[in-house]
Amino acid sequence: MRHLLSAADLDLDEAVRVLDTAGQMAATQAREIKKLPTLRGRTVVNLFFEDSTRTRISFETAAKRLSADVINFSAKGSSVSKGESLKDTALTLQAMGADAVVIRHQASGAPHTLAHSGWTHGAVVNAGDGMHQHPTQALLDAYTLRRHLVGDGGRTDVTGRDLSGAHVAIVGDVLHSRVARSNVQLLRTLGARVTLVAPPTLVPVGAHAWPAEVAYDLDEVLATGPDAVMMLRVQRERMSSTGGGFFPSPLEYTRGYGLDARRLAVLPDHAVVLHPGPMNRGLEISADAADSPRAVIVEQVANGVAVRMAVLYLLLAGGDAPRAREGERAG
Ligand code: CP
Repeated sequence: MRHLLSAADLDLDEAVRVLDTAGQMAATQAREIKKLPTLRGRTVVNLFFEDSTRTRISFETAAKRLSADVINFSAKGSSVSKGESLKDTALTLQAMGADAVVIRHQASGAPHTLAHSGWTHGAVVNAGDGMHQHPTQALLDAYTLRRHLVGDGGRTDVTGRDLSGAHVAIVGDVLHSRVARSNVQLLRTLGARVTLVAPPTLVPVGAHAWPAEVAYDLDEVLATGPDAVMMLRVQRERMSSTGGGFFPSPLEYTRGYGLDARRLAVLPDHAVVLHPGPMNRGLEISADAADSPRAVIVEQVANGVAVRMAVLYLLLAGGDAPRAREGERAG
């Protein structure tokens, strides 16, 4: 793995390797080994052109727990507001010595451009690009599902190292969701069955060709007993930028697609509820559903640190570190 740009970059063995490595990282944290020396002397740049709480902080925490130096760049308050381009921003940060660049950008494909441009010698990690991909979110979701559905305390028919036999319903604003796109790809790589549930206006053109079933009635899908329900944030900010309307109305949306206590009660006992955050409480998820014992939303955030430690470790120290960069150092 040279970069991590898309969930589609990972085959089954690579995905399982990241999840297993994340498990080892979590084990070190549980033993209160707060800092590993693995990336001492390496520099990780967090290059964020879009707002973030969870992803930016957890990449920073992950890099620091591996002893890397961290440079945090936020477009707000930077020379981007004076018109500086992605290229010149990347070249500036490269001049400061980036071994890895974690990028979030509003433009789909920006991480791919950065990775293949020569503007940085470092490994590029996609931390969310437009409506396209958010691969580390899918990895932390899969890690969380594996912890709950596989092995001791998990379901007996979801066994082994992947998620074969699991059924995951992904519910809500699929149209604007990079989380949904990444999860569909990764969950299918891991052998899970995926059902997308959304109002017709929030299903992307072409979604019927994705490796997932598409449904429009949430209550019908919940009655089939999914092992996990992943609620998506309604992305009102992207609706205005893409010219799309918010159909149905917020009230109709909540009635048709909101997860609440009544709908939770239909689920099997072992089923868990995920949400990538940030949540619109009262719109796609009620407060009692978000705070219920079934919800693993806070655990997702904690698991995100271990997963991002694993990704940085495998990219920079796992035998796949950028060879040109190593050669430069040796010379
Ligand atoms: N899940 C997620 O990407 O959250 P942030 O936007 O807060 O990083």
